[in-house]
Amino acid sequence: MTDVRVGLIGVGWIGARHRATLAQIEEARLVATADVVPGLADYLDWRTMLDRELLDAVLICTPPNHHHPPAIAAAEAGLAVYLEKPVAARLEDAQMISATVARAGVVCAVGYQYRALDLPTGLRPRVLLGRGLSRAVARPWFGDPTQGGSQILERASHLIDLQRALAGEVDRVSGMGQRGLVSLILAFAPGALGTVVVGSLPRGPGWSLDVICDDGTVAIDLDPKPPPLYTSLRRFLEAVRTADPSAVCCPIVEGVATLEVALACEEAVQSGGTVAVGTGRSRRNR
Ligand SMILES: NC(=O)c1ccc[n+]([C@@H]2O[C@H](COP(=O)([O-])OP(=O)(O)OC[C@H]3O[C@@H](n4cnc5c(N)ncnc54)[C@H](O)[C@@H]3O)[C@@H](O)[C@H]2O)c1
Repeated sequence: MTDVRVGLIGVGWIGARHRATLAQIEEARLVATADVVPGLADYLDWRTMLDRELLDAVLICTPPNHHHPPAIAAAEAGLAVYLEKPVAARLEDAQMISATVARAGVVCAVGYQYRALDLPTGLRPRVLLGRGLSRAVARPWFGDPTQGGSQILERASHLIDLQRALAGEVDRVSGMGQRGLVSLILAFAPGALGTVVVGSLPRGPGWSLDVICDDGTVAIDLDPKPPPLYTSLRRFLEAVRTADPSAVCCPIVEGVATLEVALACEEAVQSGGTVAVGTGRSRRNR
């Protein structure tokens, strides 16, 4: 395969960024776009786009509760899928996407682009300190948990995913939320403790992650050149070109595991308790 023929579903904030990134990648060709807002894209219905256009891959950039129908249809049609995070608003929908991708054997990457960072290896983290305190772009679904627009799914899940990549599986979580801010604690099975503090604060300090080990502290550079958004998409396109599902930065199974931790955090914040992270479901106060 030479050029990867791409369809873009959802031409909002992140869709516009991916479109700009695709324009910088020689081997990518944006063939068509779809969005429910009239006049924004080539097609109003992504189903018509999938029926009519010859595509190798789709980028799914709709709000979280609108991820699973196009992701499942695209995978069933044999197309590669770059799926924005979080995988879905509900675990059941995310698991259905994952099962369909596995059955179809297609390339699938989740948009947790921090996995594209050049992460240090061999660390034995004791504490991970993550924060995402910055201005948030206003979108109609952001702030509505039923649409997957909570601070935890939308923002904290980036840092949960990155902490999982560095410190292993999460065993249990707790947290609190107040006035649009959320503070989470993650206990990792191998022994590390992670914190994630997120919220929309226009004058906040931004995003960071410090990894504290017995022999020192590593500040992860979250904003290198080229940006992780670019590297993540580029690696996806290369995986499509080489038909190698393992070559993506964040495979679907990792995205689903991160969603499970994020949903356990939602439960912990709501209940005020500690929530154990199970396989396929979360159990309170184990
Ligand atoms: N990776 C990142 O850093 C990052 C950053 C921002 C957003 N995101 C994720 O990207 C996704 C989209 O976020 P956004 O900020 O671009 O939102 P947005 O609201 O700006 O854009 C979403 C677009 O999808 C369209 N849409 C809604 N339902 C649709 C449907 N059924 N079919 C086709 N189009 C539909 C909307 O009209 C809108 O244009 C979310 O999952 C979000 O979490 C990821």
